[in-house]
Amino acid sequence: MQQQFLTRLRDIPLRWRLTAWYVFLLSLILAGFSAFIYFNMSLSLQRELDAVLMSQGEQVSSSLDAENGQLRLDPTLPLLPGTYIGLYDAGGKILSTNMPANPLTRLQVKSFPVNQPRTVEAQGNEWRVLLVPVKEQGQQLAWLAVARSEEEAEAPLNKLLLFILIAIPLTLVVAAGGGIFLARRALKPIDRIAAKARQISATDLSRRLDLPHGNDEVGHLVATLDEMLDRLDRAFQRQRQFTADASHELRTPLAVIRSQAEAVLNRQHSPEEYRQALAIIRDQAAWMGNLVAKLLLLARSDDRMEQLEMEPLDLGELVEGVTAEWQGIAAAKGLRLKKIIKENVVVRGDQTRLTQLLANLVDNAIKYTPAGEVVVSLERRGRQALLKVQDTGAGIPPEHLPHIFERFYRVDKARSRSEGGFGLGLSICEWIARAHGGKIEVESTVGQGTTFKVRLPAV
Ligand SMILES: Nc1ncnc2c1ncn2[C@@H]1O[C@H](COP(=O)(O)OP(=O)(O)O)[C@@H](O)[C@H]1O
Ligand SMILES: [Mg+2]
Repeated sequence: MQQQFLTRLRDIPLRWRLTAWYVFLLSLILAGFSAFIYFNMSLSLQRELDAVLMSQGEQVSSSLDAENGQLRLDPTLPLLPGTYIGLYDAGGKILSTNMPANPLTRLQVKSFPVNQPRTVEAQGNEWRVLLVPVKEQGQQLAWLAVARSEEEAEAPLNKLLLFILIAIPLTLVVAAGGGIFLARRALKPIDRIAAKARQISATDLSRRLDLPHGNDEVGHLVATLDEMLDRLDRAFQRQRQFTADASHELRTPLAVIRSQAEAVLNRQHSPEEYRQALAIIRDQAAWMGNLVAKLLLLARSDDRMEQLEMEPLDLGELVEGVTAEWQGIAAAKGLRLKKIIKENVVVRGDQTRLTQLLANLVDNAIKYTPAGEVVVSLERRGRQALLKVQDTGAGIPPEHLPHIFERFYRVDKARSRSEGGFGLGLSICEWIARAHGGKIEVESTVGQGTTFKVRLPAV
């Protein structure tokens, strides 16, 4: 129920909600303010009234004549218009008054507080009444009551109330109008952004909001959205490129397998010819299997589905293992493969993946080095393990350097392919380094050689 109410509230346009809040808060403030003024004024009016009663009471009682025990009111009393007085004997019986009606004729003198003005209701009117004792030589002679109409005294208060009752709604109406106008103005750019963003679909991510904007909140929103579109656009492009490249890579071996199969199916062949064709098909299938495994690994790493099994890992042992394994291949190419373990470093990592990373780098170094040596070295640099694979090979031209970690990127496509490369090795290396909280860098001089540096956080 409450939930429903809240969702319904959220359906109301923001400009109305803002204005409603604004008007609501303003009305609270105005009401509080008016109440404060009203009560303050009422209090000071009553105080004034009481002061008048006191001074009138004093004047009247000092002008009373006591002639042989008989009290008389001076007919030339200095009474203010609207002041009524009543004179009572010591027993509380009325002696004389200039007000022939309630409340003074029926005042309960005995129970009325002395010298403290009180409000008394009589015949639908409110009166402020002050009772003062009249004494002579310490003897209680009589009582004097002074009264003034409270309603009359409060007339300015009614005017104020009327003013408040008219002014507050009027102010609120004007404020609501202004609020709507301002909210509309402030939210208009957001409407424009929404309309523009709606026009941009997934297929046309190259478009930008491209709205003129200042350095304010809306400007930041526009800039942020445009940056997000940039990133999305690049990601989509990379994904499309990746799919296209992958399909392209798979086309060649598929064509080879197909032509081999068709060729042997066409007519009778000798067993040796069959064996040859099947060997070609097997190699192509193996190549494809290899590619698919790498694609799968990269796809899973993109989705963060590939879990690393982190454990304390002796990098020295890892270097020993990989160099020993590749020794034969290097020797077959006439290359020296050396290892320099300056310090042993332990990291937290996934053994399979880190072995794969080092093997990929050694594989490249051997593949792209016609003669000379490949050196794998390990040392500690501060809190990091530094793993280097250095070769004396052809090197990589500077214009290619920024791209070699991209998927399917090969400097010399034909050559890499003839060596069995897909151009995925380095992107896998880069992912493995990153997944371990490390990074991979490359330095290369054409004709002199290439150095890959992997930095991993050491334990
Ligand atoms: N040690 C190296 N010396 C020269 N070029 C290299 C070296 N390592 C990598 N490259 C270049 O970087 C490209 C990308 O490497 P990689 O991703 O491992 O793909 P692949 O080895 O399958 O071609 C290679 O095609 C090659 O041109
Ligand atoms: Mg490679």
